[in-house]
Amino acid sequence: MESIIRLENVSFSYKINEKTKVSVLKNISFSIFPGEYVAIIGHNGSGKSTLSKHLNGILTPDSGDVWVHGHNTKDVNKKRSIRQAVGTVFQHPDNQIVATIVEEDVAFGLENIGVPREEMKKRVDEALNVVKMSQFRHRPPHHLSGGQKQRVAIAGVLAMKPDCIVFDEATSMLDSFGRKEVLQVMRKMNNMGMTIITVTHHMSEAAEADRIIVIEGGQIVMDGPPREIFKHKLELENLQLEVPSVSQMAEVIHRKFTTFSKDIIQESEFIEEVEKFHKAEVGT
Ligand SMILES: Nc1ncnc2c1ncn2[C@@H]1O[C@H](COP(=O)(O)OP(=O)(O)O)[C@@H](O)[C@H]1O
Ligand SMILES: [Mg+2]
Repeated sequence: MESIIRLENVSFSYKINEKTKVSVLKNISFSIFPGEYVAIIGHNGSGKSTLSKHLNGILTPDSGDVWVHGHNTKDVNKKRSIRQAVGTVFQHPDNQIVATIVEEDVAFGLENIGVPREEMKKRVDEALNVVKMSQFRHRPPHHLSGGQKQRVAIAGVLAMKPDCIVFDEATSMLDSFGRKEVLQVMRKMNNMGMTIITVTHHMSEAAEADRIIVIEGGQIVMDGPPREIFKHKLELENLQLEVPSVSQMAEVIHRKFTTFSKDIIQESEFIEEVEKFHKAEVGT
């Protein structure tokens, strides 16, 4: 299958001044395929945001290449189409809101690329509908909750009809309710066929993805399905990462009641296992 995004031996340093450079990404290679739901995890400073910014050419590698639909992100003539193909939602919802009315905010990017009025209206309607914010369309965004603002920001990206959206810690400023709302939107968009890349330090969020890429010191150290990745509890701990809290709880219960499965990574699985266990033990 053709990849959407392909990184080939990507290295990148920030230049602090004439003499000093901070080497952040070190020879990274991987591909993202259409329809994937990928979580990128790693502790603070491991290079996740720097990597995210390479996925649509906000930053370009010092050596190596990033290809989006076969176009090199260093090709200035392709910048616009690359940004349109891969959208980004950032951490702070407030920094992403540009207009004073929700629907104008969602339309902002479309106006910039000159989408005709009728088409624009249709796309704004659809995008607000997906993120369940239609009833707020005439409201000023600054009256909304963090989760609602973030959903407006997502609608703005969605309206551009990208093939892939990168979320860089997009839930980290939100309370648990807001986080759930945004996670549901990610899952829904992925079910609609959109490729999702989410950078997160919440393991419960990473467990929702179909694939996890673990980054440490600017290098990829693990890449696989969540169930495989979370089997490596000790390696993750060495990287200052944890397995999801439901996995930790399941393991504690399993130690006392061996029929209780410890192979659990999602909250829904945990609840199912409790119900199964309860039926078997109590017989109801
Ligand atoms: N604009 C910048 N200038 C210089 N150094 C930076 C800049 N942004 C990030 N860094 C450094 O690069 C490293 C990786 O940062 P980042 O990609 O933000 O990691 P993460 O998102 O995983 O926390 C850190 O050591 C950070 O201090
Ligand atoms: Mg970051």
